[in-house]
Amino acid sequence: MSDRGLGITVTEHLLREQRETPYATGTFTQLLNELIVAAKIINREVNKAGLVDIYGYTGTENIYGEQVQKLDEFANSTIIRRVMHTGHVCAVASEEDADIVEVPDERLRGPYIVLIDPLDGSSNIDVNASIGTIFSIRRRIKESGPVTLDEVLRKGSEQVAAGYFIYGSSTMLVYTTGKGVNGFTLNPALGEFLLSHRDITIPKKGRIYSVNEGNWAYWDEPVKRYVEYLKTPDPENGRPYSSRYIGTLVSDFHRNLLKGGIFMYPADKKDPKKPRGKLRLLFEAAPLAFLIEQAGGAASDGQRRILDIEPETLHDRVPLFIGSPDDVAEVERFLAGEAH
Ligand code: AHG
Ligand code: MN
Ligand code: MN
Repeated sequence: MSDRGLGITVTEHLLREQRETPYATGTFTQLLNELIVAAKIINREVNKAGLVDIYGYTGTENIYGEQVQKLDEFANSTIIRRVMHTGHVCAVASEEDADIVEVPDERLRGPYIVLIDPLDGSSNIDVNASIGTIFSIRRRIKESGPVTLDEVLRKGSEQVAAGYFIYGSSTMLVYTTGKGVNGFTLNPALGEFLLSHRDITIPKKGRIYSVNEGNWAYWDEPVKRYVEYLKTPDPENGRPYSSRYIGTLVSDFHRNLLKGGIFMYPADKKDPKKPRGKLRLLFEAAPLAFLIEQAGGAASDGQRRILDIEPETLHDRVPLFIGSPDDVAEVERFLAGEAH
C-alpha cells in the first residue's frame, strides 16, 4: 500500500511488476532507475534552455571543466554515462552516434543493449514546445565478447522494454515491459515519478490526425487521398478529423495515445537521401510501436507491421503510421489501393 496521499512511485510499481515476473531479477528496475536519473538531469537543462544558448556552446564550464554542449549531445552523453555504470549493459546505440558505443570494462558489462533517441524534437527547444527522450531495451544474442551489429539489427518484436520521457508542461515517463503501458508524472517537489496513467489503452478509432502537411507535394497519391478523406465532412463517421501537429514525435504520439487518432510520417520525395521518410526505425519507430501495440494500437510502415521489420543498417529510416488500430488499418487500405 503506498504512503497516504503520496501515490505509487515508479520504483514501487517496478518492484510490484518484478514480484509478478518470476524471472525478473531487478536488473530492469535498476536500469530504468538510471534512465530516470538521466531524465531528471536533462529535464533540469531543458528548463534552463531559454536562459542559455542551448544550441551552441554555452560558454560555461561544468564540474568536469568541460564546455557544456548543445542539448541533444548533452542528453546523449548524460544517458550513456548513467547506464554505463549499471553493470547490466554491454552497449548503447544512439541516434546521435554513427556506431554502437560499447561498455569498455568487462567487469561492468551485462546482457542489455540500450537504444536511444536522447533528445526528440530538438527543433522545438528554442520555442519552448515539449520535447522528449525515447529508449528501447534489448537483450544481446551472444553470451560475451564484443557486441556486433547483427545483435542490434533485429526485429522490434524482440525488445524487452521501451518508453519515453516528455519534458513538457509536466515531465512524464511512459513505458512498457510487455505487460501493458503505464504513465508516471514527475512531482517536482519530491523529485519522484508517481503513477498517473494506469494501464493506458488507446481508443479503437480516433478523430485526430497528425502529419506535416507542408510535405504534401512530395507524398505518394494514396497518402494524399487518405488525408483528403480525413478532411472530408462525414459527421456520421466522425469526419473531418482535427489536425494536431507539434513536430515532436513523442508529444504527438503521447496525445494520440491518450485521445486516439493517427500519427503519420510518410515516405516523401523531398530528400532523395531519405526515400523512406525521416524517422529512424531502431530509435523512434520500433520503441513506439512496442508501446502502441501494448496499448491496443497498431504501427506500420504502410504495408508491414513495424515490429516485424528487420533493420539493414543502424540508422535505417522508415515511413511510420501509428495510433488507433482502426485508423492504421484504414490508411493501410488506402495505401493498398483498396479504399479511395
Ligand atoms: P529528432 O529531434 O530526434 O531528430 O526528431 C525529430 C523528428 C520527430 O520528433 C518529429 O516527429 C519530426 O522530426 C518532425 O519532422 P518535420 O519537422 O519534418 O515535420
Ligand atoms: Mn527523434
Ligand atoms: Mn533526436
